[in-house]
Amino acid sequence: MELVITDTADQAGVLAGGIIAADVRAGARAIGLATGSSPLGAYRELIRRHRDEDLSFAGVQAFLLDEYIDLPAGHPQSYARFIRDEFTSHIDIDDAAVHSPDGNAADLPAAAAAYEAAIAAAGPVAVQILGIGANGHIGFNEPGSSLRSRTRVKTLTPRTRADNARFFDTPDDVPTHVLTQGLGTISDAGHLVMIATGPSKAAAVAAAVEGPVSAFCPASILQMHPHVTVITDESAAAALTQGDYYRFAHANKPHWQGY
Ligand code: GLP
Repeated sequence: MELVITDTADQAGVLAGGIIAADVRAGARAIGLATGSSPLGAYRELIRRHRDEDLSFAGVQAFLLDEYIDLPAGHPQSYARFIRDEFTSHIDIDDAAVHSPDGNAADLPAAAAAYEAAIAAAGPVAVQILGIGANGHIGFNEPGSSLRSRTRVKTLTPRTRADNARFFDTPDDVPTHVLTQGLGTISDAGHLVMIATGPSKAAAVAAAVEGPVSAFCPASILQMHPHVTVITDESAAAALTQGDYYRFAHANKPHWQGY
């Protein structure tokens, strides 16, 4: 696992975007996208590189981590709509190549299985972008999630619903249930790139990176993966005990070594 601590959140987004762009240029056929505010800077950078540097996503399949259950189709806060508005409508990727779990399916377990099958058919996912919830969730894998879980229905915690209420008209409008890739599904990706910014993420980042591997901090599963890049700004790195070491390692990164 490589920890990179940037001075600002904007720098974290630019760095993350550059890392993902390198994976796409290296021939990634499938990429994993996350929603929430954490990856927005990375998406801005990828859009800029598409516009200014001929970065192309033609032929790439994109898979979202998760989706709310029972939001009306086209709801502005559905993750399928969010990712189109914020990212994929600004690059050269077909709508049909952007996949998300079907949160309006009549048979949700079947929709979860179908999503796993779609990832398996197009995958493996070369690079998966991740944010982190204040309680350590990735995707919508709340604390207690099996460390080898696959795509399934989860119930959101009150804290996650409260954290996400800012996107909805009222807190009660936040759905209670979701479909999310499991921690096992996420772990199948070749490269995990987590972005965490702001002081509200500091405790979760420290637990994920330096705490025990535990279902009670789902992001700690990153410690079991062979290729992980965690990018934080200074405020999200504030609770790390080994921050000086991570800064030293990055400042002395061998020139031949990518991310
Ligand atoms: C949301 C999403 C996650 C996201 C996290 C943090 O609920 N399901 O994929 O990483 O919570 O969101 P934000 O980046 O807005 O803080």
